[in-house]
Amino acid sequence: MLVDSYDRVVDYLRVSVTERCNFRCTYCMPEKPFSWVPKENLLNFDELFEFMKVAIDEGIRKIRITGGEPLLREDLDVFIKMIYDYEPSIDLAMTSNAFLLKGTAQRLKDAGLKRINVSIDTLKPEIAQEIAGKDVLKNVLEGVEEALKVGLKVKVNMVPMKTLNADEIIDILEYCKARNMSVRFIEYMENKYAKEGISGLKSTELLTILGEKYEFSDDGFDGSSPSHYYTMKDGYRFGIIEPYADDFCKQCNRIRLTAEGNLIPCLYFDESMSIAEAVKRGDIKGAAAVLKEVVRTKPEKNRWGGEDGESSSRAFYETGG
Ligand code: 5AD
Ligand code: SF4
Repeated sequence: MLVDSYDRVVDYLRVSVTERCNFRCTYCMPEKPFSWVPKENLLNFDELFEFMKVAIDEGIRKIRITGGEPLLREDLDVFIKMIYDYEPSIDLAMTSNAFLLKGTAQRLKDAGLKRINVSIDTLKPEIAQEIAGKDVLKNVLEGVEEALKVGLKVKVNMVPMKTLNADEIIDILEYCKARNMSVRFIEYMENKYAKEGISGLKSTELLTILGEKYEFSDDGFDGSSPSHYYTMKDGYRFGIIEPYADDFCKQCNRIRLTAEGNLIPCLYFDESMSIAEAVKRGDIKGAAAVLKEVVRTKPEKNRWGGEDGESSSRAFYETGG
């Protein structure tokens, strides 16, 4: 079991398989980065799988594949199947923008993927074009339908922003509710890569909008999710994530791996340690030692609003949020 110095059990690994993305979301990657990580620096799936085995053997129970956009990486289903065959009980999930999901959902499901989180910020084609930088909505919605059809569990993320999609909060909730998908509203997180001038809705504003239409009870946190949950009278549940809060850090159980093999103890910190050399040498003990050291140095809470106001300079597309 992996336990950090604040007695938190770390059993959740998020694995970014590429920082590349086919969208240019205003809040994440409005412009193509000056340079991408060169392909030769990416860990190949055999190398990544070597580390997945180490992580599972040490106590990781949940693995989420992220990007950038993970479906840009060819043969992702082969990698998923490697993990599934090694330990079928792993909670295997992926976060995707859903653009390429229509043609891949069945293969991913057959490979052993269980759940998928997708971003739906709008149901209006022209607003989707404005947020993602291209006409994406049709493919995204078809991708979601296909994922549901093949039996993947789907959760939706929405980042509500003033003047862009704040008027669609209820519509998106209803869209998700009709399909039995849970929705989480994420407060926009400032970051130096995002487009200037974005103004996100705060959780209090979201609750006001939702409270005008629905009655719901406050369930607080559930397990180790950073999301605060609310249950409506008919039993439907939605979540709100406040990234600037730190009250969810107490139950944080996660670490992150970038596509180059940097293992990151906390999203909001720059510090990381590389597992690349160890896995390339086939050095299982070395990789396990890096994993344990990263868990040992996991900080108590994020730095937002700290004395120095410091936070990570890493882009969200390097870690999939
Ligand atoms: N603020 C809030 N959420 C973000 N995401 C990406 N960038 C940001 C940001 N700046 C979310 C997207 C996506 C998930 C991977 O991360 O909504 O669903
Ligand atoms: Fe948008 Fe996700 Fe791509 Fe970032 S990584 S640009 S949030 S689709």
